[in-house]
Amino acid sequence: MTTRYLTKPVSTLRKSFTMDDMKGTTGIVPEDKCANTHATGDKIESVELRLNEDDVNGRSVELTSKKDSYVLMRDCNASTRLTAQHYLWKDLLGYLIHPDIPTGFDDLKIADVATGNGIWLHDVSRSKSTSAELHGFDISLDQVGPKAWLPANIRMHIWNIFDEPPPQFIGYFDIVHVRLITVVVKNNDPQPVLANLAKLLKPGGYLQWDEVDTISSSIKTVPGVSGSSLNKLYSQLKGNNTRDDTWVTLIEKSRVHTTDCHFSWKYRLTEILDENGFTGSLLYTYEYGHGLARLWNDIYVSTWKEFANNVLKTPRMSEDLERKGMEEARNGAAIMTPKLVWVTRKE
Ligand SMILES: C[S@@+](CC[C@H](N)C(=O)[O-])C[C@H]1O[C@@H](n2cnc3c(N)ncnc32)[C@H](O)[C@@H]1O
Repeated sequence: MTTRYLTKPVSTLRKSFTMDDMKGTTGIVPEDKCANTHATGDKIESVELRLNEDDVNGRSVELTSKKDSYVLMRDCNASTRLTAQHYLWKDLLGYLIHPDIPTGFDDLKIADVATGNGIWLHDVSRSKSTSAELHGFDISLDQVGPKAWLPANIRMHIWNIFDEPPPQFIGYFDIVHVRLITVVVKNNDPQPVLANLAKLLKPGGYLQWDEVDTISSSIKTVPGVSGSSLNKLYSQLKGNNTRDDTWVTLIEKSRVHTTDCHFSWKYRLTEILDENGFTGSLLYTYEYGHGLARLWNDIYVSTWKEFANNVLKTPRMSEDLERKGMEEARNGAAIMTPKLVWVTRKE
């Protein structure tokens, strides 16, 4: 896959391209639209923008490249889910940044990678001075508000976690936070992601990585209530329903990287961290009780619904499964997923 550099000022670029045009672009760049680029008349298979100004549609853009194969959605419902989920996470953990991680200095630099709508970063920014720097990175900033409305200490950047980090951020951060990138990790191997997260950190900097414990998840029901439809839909989301031929076919047809049919990396991550430039890695686990089970359940049904719309594309089957699953939830059943938080320090 070739990378082309477009080095025109944004003001000029925008006459020819919008950001949406550029994402995952495959095509011929017309001569008149690519003066000063290295891509004249060439087929673009991957696009990297190196912009002279840092404001495109109100957003700071460092890098954008390759096709975005994210399996969930970025519409208003998806963003609302992230917001609700954030407050449930915070309520369960009792912190945003783990208390083992020192944060009490003024020029603190924090990165939130795969930031989504930036809700974690917004919440952190409220307790940090304006001299702290908070940077959000994501392959898409479609869920983020305009730069003009961001708190003074927050900056947002487009960055694909599988690409080399922007050079100005190598060894830059005291803390790197990442949450809920199970669908991003490919081939049951977190190491490519981890290697790039490590590059962002200063020596001695901390990584906090928050995930759902997909393997230990279960369906809890009050006695006598079925949870089979919730089980089926959550199995679809996890991609481990290997006995369901329809599902396997859909995965193959989707040609999307849902390769996280295997999540065993989560059970090896502590060792992987310690073997890959981190030290003193600790895993903290969190479980919620039945009291909040329905609230969490609805988060996971919503997540599945995004996945079903985006990947399965079998609306009639999915509508039926959702209706049955939510009937079970109303009767007293819930998807329960413990949460995992790794805290580790770069050597
Ligand atoms: C489930 S959301 C989590 C958002 C946020 N961390 C939170 O906890 O609210 C996953 C995020 O990963 C982002 N993402 C997907 N693939 C990515 C990639 N290759 N590089 C960077 N971010 C990616 C998506 O755009 C999405 O915003």
